[in-house]
Amino acid sequence: MVKPWLLNYESYRYVEENGVRLHLNECPWPPPSHVIVEAIQALHKVNLYPDANMFRKLRELLGEYNDIDPENIYPFAGADNALRALFYNLVEPGDAVEFVKPTFNMIPILASLRGLHSIVVTSYECGEWWCIDVERLIDYADKAVMVVLVDPNNPTGSPILKGDRELLSILAKKVNGFIVVDETYYEFSGYTLADMVEEYPNLVIVRSLSKAFCLAGLRLGYIIAHRELVNILSKPYTVFDIPTPTLAAGIAALENHTYVSGVVAKVIELREWMYSELRKLGFSVYRSLANFLLIKDRRNLKNHMLKHGIVIKSVDENLYRITIGSEDACREAVRILGEL
Ligand SMILES: Cc1ncc(COP(=O)(O)O)c(C=O)c1O
Repeated sequence: MVKPWLLNYESYRYVEENGVRLHLNECPWPPPSHVIVEAIQALHKVNLYPDANMFRKLRELLGEYNDIDPENIYPFAGADNALRALFYNLVEPGDAVEFVKPTFNMIPILASLRGLHSIVVTSYECGEWWCIDVERLIDYADKAVMVVLVDPNNPTGSPILKGDRELLSILAKKVNGFIVVDETYYEFSGYTLADMVEEYPNLVIVRSLSKAFCLAGLRLGYIIAHRELVNILSKPYTVFDIPTPTLAAGIAALENHTYVSGVVAKVIELREWMYSELRKLGFSVYRSLANFLLIKDRRNLKNHMLKHGIVIKSVDENLYRITIGSEDACREAVRILGEL
């Protein structure tokens, strides 16, 4: 009785490798103590289900942070779960979904798990960036029930729509359903299409507190959408879905989020330093608007780095993604790559 797309799907595999973690685009620094203290305090109450007032407060603060009504926002346990909610509730098996390749690997995974047809727009190198054929993206949009764009894209670090409102409105009108813009790296890129959700009720923005807020281990993300769509999408979920320590940390982080701009500034400074050092060493490295860099190389960079205690991500043939880590980790990564 099990549906073939679920039965035949090869489970998501992740093997933990020991070393300095430059493979998951994590924040290299723990969140500030005011956030940690609140998460610890919340542990004293984990015999109880989460307090619904905390869920409401989190929504309010996310509203303030984004200068948008809280009714336009719905939190999830990580952007991963927000994406899962969209793939499970907005499309059904047999529908088509359009996305860019390469992109965040959960997107093709969810497409395959849900028995969707994938319309793939392949991005290509264009100088220091990766580009997409926008005409092609638009041409196929009406065949898709959902267009999913990661902007800036992972693993390329390149922009896709780059806040282009006209392009968004063309796509939103053309798609035969919904357009999802995953802005997980928004704090690093600085551009967003979030204020277009009122005008386009089929637009969903996905965000995460894993990256610039340094809360990956607590699992917190959210969507921004038209309030009617938020009401509909929230139907399968309850105020108990996000654990109390996560709610407490999220509230504390949003109440005093000055640290986020410090994290972003430091990551960008280190990213630009690493980019120019790797260029000087002769590596084919691309520009990035996120907290990682993509390198093209014929050698096995992953194994080389692993031998020296640094874990990076092998994305595709000859393509390696390296997260911007702490200053020490970045220097060490450049030194080890320099040996090659
Ligand atoms: C584009 C994109 N979306 C979503 C996620 C998942 O984020 P979260 O940790 O909030 O689940 C990631 C994580 O790397 C990502 O790169």
